[in-house]
Amino acid sequence: MQLKPSTLALALSLFVSSTIAEDEELSSTLVGCDEVSCPKEGINDRCTVEDNTFLGIGLSRIRDVPSSLEGFSLVKGVNVSDGLAGNDNDKPTRSFKSFYYLGTPSDVETRDLSGCVVVFNDAPSKKFNQNGNDVRAASGSCSDVIDNTCIERLTEKATELADEADGNVCTSLERELKSASLDECNGFGNGGNLGNFTVKSLGDLNAVKNSSDCWPIQPKSDQLMEIASITALNDNTATALYDEAYKITPVLTVFTGNDNSSLVDKTASQLTCLKVVTEEDPSDDEDSSENSAVAVKASGFAAGIAVLAGILALL
Ligand SMILES: *[C@@H]1O[C@H](CO)[C@@H](O)[C@H](O)[C@H]1NC(C)=O
Ligand SMILES: *[C@@H]1O[C@H](CO)[C@@H](O)[C@H](O)[C@H]1NC(C)=O
Ligand SMILES: *[C@@H]1O[C@H](CO)[C@@H](O)[C@H](O)[C@H]1NC(C)=O
Ligand SMILES: *[C@@H]1O[C@H](CO)[C@@H](O)[C@H](O)[C@H]1NC(C)=O
Repeated sequence: MQLKPSTLALALSLFVSSTIAEDEELSSTLVGCDEVSCPKEGINDRCTVEDNTFLGIGLSRIRDVPSSLEGFSLVKGVNVSDGLAGNDNDKPTRSFKSFYYLGTPSDVETRDLSGCVVVFNDAPSKKFNQNGNDVRAASGSCSDVIDNTCIERLTEKATELADEADGNVCTSLERELKSASLDECNGFGNGGNLGNFTVKSLGDLNAVKNSSDCWPIQPKSDQLMEIASITALNDNTATALYDEAYKITPVLTVFTGNDNSSLVDKTASQLTCLKVVTEEDPSDDEDSSENSAVAVKASGFAAGIAVLAGILALL
């Protein structure tokens, strides 16, 4: 039997598009260096973005978004200053600098972004996989660590505040959230109801230069914009390293739609939880994320083959 070239081309294009579509899904809600293929330094993950080198990254899609925001992501990277030798071990002399980025699909006009980002600096009291023992590899989503009633109340409140704001939306959101006391959110942070947070305007974000060997996002064609960098001081102990570098950071995104060119036609708010996810022990990689990432790709490939075989069978 002769294959018609056009049929073969169709079969191949179905095959290619099925594998590409598969690649845009992350293998889980919150992923780390394994998923974005950071270069390694020995057995350690390393990711340099512009001038900043991170011991690992965390990447999550922003979920529950209107269709125009589909594929938007948030990324966190943490740099830890070298520990000082000597007897300063228990003094807060070590800096933990967390960087946050917004990832957008390549076809999005980022100048059309409007709204605010709120980074909550105090980690929720609950942790991911509380029964597991490796805090570095722990991963999950906000609903694992924050009550759904709080997530709903906070996102609704943010949308309401943004819609009611007169003047600068982010300034107004910051002021109102500082004084807000959301009963549903007790225990969200330490101290004040929502703890210490940082507010930035989505309209003021700068694009990140793609010059390093680590572009911590999938798909790689996505753009990154820097949201904020926040420094915390802690001591030189391993406990401090685990607590600070691997802490969970809830990030509230509020996309507003008050002008013609906005990406959304009405305000939409989401809460995303970020954390550096690292699997430093190579033996861990064997049976967990690496293999499952390969499995996802293989299943895309297998689906492509099945489509190809199906079409050939029709000839
Ligand atoms: C943190 O940044 C400093 C200065 O750029 C760099 O020397 C160091 O290796 C980085 N630390 C980590 C753990 O990435
Ligand atoms: C950034 O650089 C990486 C690695 O060089 C490349 O694969 C990717 O396509 C680039 N992405 C953008 C948005 O420039
Ligand atoms: C909030 O956290 C930032 C960064 O750690 C710190 O500079 C600031 O003083 C804190 N603000 C309050 C009110 O605690
Ligand atoms: C929105 O679009 C309308 C019609 O095209 C125009 O008259 C108006 O000035 C625009 N408003 C803004 C804020 O750009």
